Amino acid sequence: MGAAYDPAPMDKVYKMLIMAEVGREDVVFDLGCGDGRVLIAAARRFGSRAIGIEIDPFRFLFAWFMTIISGQTHRVRIRFGNFFNKSIGEATAVMLFLYGPTNNRLKEKFKRELKPGTRIVSYIWEFDDWQMVDCLPEDKIYMYVI
Ligand SMILES: C[S@@+](CC[C@H](N)C(=O)[O-])C[C@H]1O[C@@H](n2cnc3c(N)ncnc32)[C@H](O)[C@@H]1O
Repeated sequence: MGAAYDPAPMDKVYKMLIMAEVGREDVVFDLGCGDGRVLIAAARRFGSRAIGIEIDPFRFLFAWFMTIISGQTHRVRIRFGNFFNKSIGEATAVMLFLYGPTNNRLKEKFKRELKPGTRIVSYIWEFDDWQMVDCLPEDKIYMYVI
């Protein structure tokens, strides 16, 4: 596991997506997508395609259910499993609300799989030794670019 379930407040979710300037041309990944709120917001508010990966079977099913009720099944996909073992190369923006050690363990995967220019936005946790390109310190939202 890379973090326990704890949904990000919706105002933080919107600030993360706005910081990454996501739009219709983007593929937004949420690693550990919980109830799918980040994906649904990215699809509904910004018109992005959005892909979530979730390891907890209950959260996975709930996120899928929330996607159906939101009417965003044409834009949102939820994948069941461990994000360390799933391909993320399609992403143009990655949203994270995990733990600091998990962020740092993901660095090698990000460098290997993500395209140059992909934005990574993390709520609460920073990356050790990576140069931040934008931040909202009072919201604890930090952005990095591959
Ligand atoms: C702090 S919650 C964040 C949920 C959502 N991203 C949000 O911002 O509301 C972290 C989520 O990551 C999931 N998770 C933790 N480790 C994971 C892993 N290795 N692969 C996939 N999901 C994982 C947990 O089950 C939990 O739902």
